[in-house]
Amino acid sequence: MQNLDQIIRQASADFSAADDPDALEQIKARYLGKSGQITGLLKGMAKLSPEERKTAGLTINRAKEAIETALNGRRETLRRQALETRLAEESIDVTLPGRKECRGGLHPVTRSLERIETLFRSIGFEVAEGPEIEADFQNFTALNMPEGHPARSMHDTFYLLDEKGNAVEDVLLRTHTSPIQVRYMQAHVEKYGHLETMPDIRIIAPGRVYRVDSDATHSPMFHQVEGLWIGEDVSMSDLKGICADFLRRFFESDDLKVRFRPSFFPFTEPSAEIDVAFMSGALKGRWLEIAGCGMVHPNVLRHVRIDPEKYTGFAFGMGMDRLTMLRYGVDDLRLFFDGDLRFLSQFV
Ligand code: DAH
Repeated sequence: MQNLDQIIRQASADFSAADDPDALEQIKARYLGKSGQITGLLKGMAKLSPEERKTAGLTINRAKEAIETALNGRRETLRRQALETRLAEESIDVTLPGRKECRGGLHPVTRSLERIETLFRSIGFEVAEGPEIEADFQNFTALNMPEGHPARSMHDTFYLLDEKGNAVEDVLLRTHTSPIQVRYMQAHVEKYGHLETMPDIRIIAPGRVYRVDSDATHSPMFHQVEGLWIGEDVSMSDLKGICADFLRRFFESDDLKVRFRPSFFPFTEPSAEIDVAFMSGALKGRWLEIAGCGMVHPNVLRHVRIDPEKYTGFAFGMGMDRLTMLRYGVDDLRLFFDGDLRFLSQFV
């Protein structure tokens, strides 16, 4: 069949002329599509006698196969060409100098936090957390600072407003980490209050706290870490031993001097402030205040339904930023929160 050979040749030529896959598929339709030439020939066989149909069918199908082979060949060529073009376009210039890898690091206060957690975990303390938006009850009342108590005014903080701009009653940004003590004790009593003797509470509670205050040593947001141990025979000497030992380990200084100076906090009785003095370095010999502490006030225990006749405990609250400043010799607290990489990268 002269005609078929011609069709095959024409199809191959057309396929070769197509230079993208879409055009190729269009051309394919001309031969193999519903109204394509080969399809037309196959349909036309209906008019032939059975004998003729057999031979015609055979040759037409062979021609069809030949066209399909040509088509697939061209498809493959186009695919390879496209790949080569992409490879050429996306080639990597290995002579280009690489981008420098910038290594991040932990913030100095975070380093302190990790250190504090490790040291206290090593003597059996757990790490507890609490909300930064706190209720008046946990922040003040339960800590023996009822409404109108003068100590509240030293804790001026940020109050929250509703959509209409009215102050939300009883809610504030916590002024210290001490409310975590309250929350932890409440949960503990809920869990173990029914037992003859409750297991000890031994926690530290780090976190951000807020006060209306801002200068070189005060920031409206700063970090504290609270400590609390409640049990049947917890005494002031436990408090002294644990805090002094912690501070010597934190500052890696065996000859660090630690003193407990009588003070007042509504939620402890007796209360003390902890001062440290370094025996070398720029701050040598100066007493530096580092924490507040004391024996948990019976009223605090009563507020969380712990029997103060049976259980006693100590608490302390340290300024984590201050610990960090002393450890690294930084004299302006604000540097920690400015986010200046020239300052921060020194600690990496
Ligand atoms: N919450 C106190 C403050 O921010 C610090 C403090 C003092 C915490 C004595 C304590 C404590 O747990 O016993 O000023």
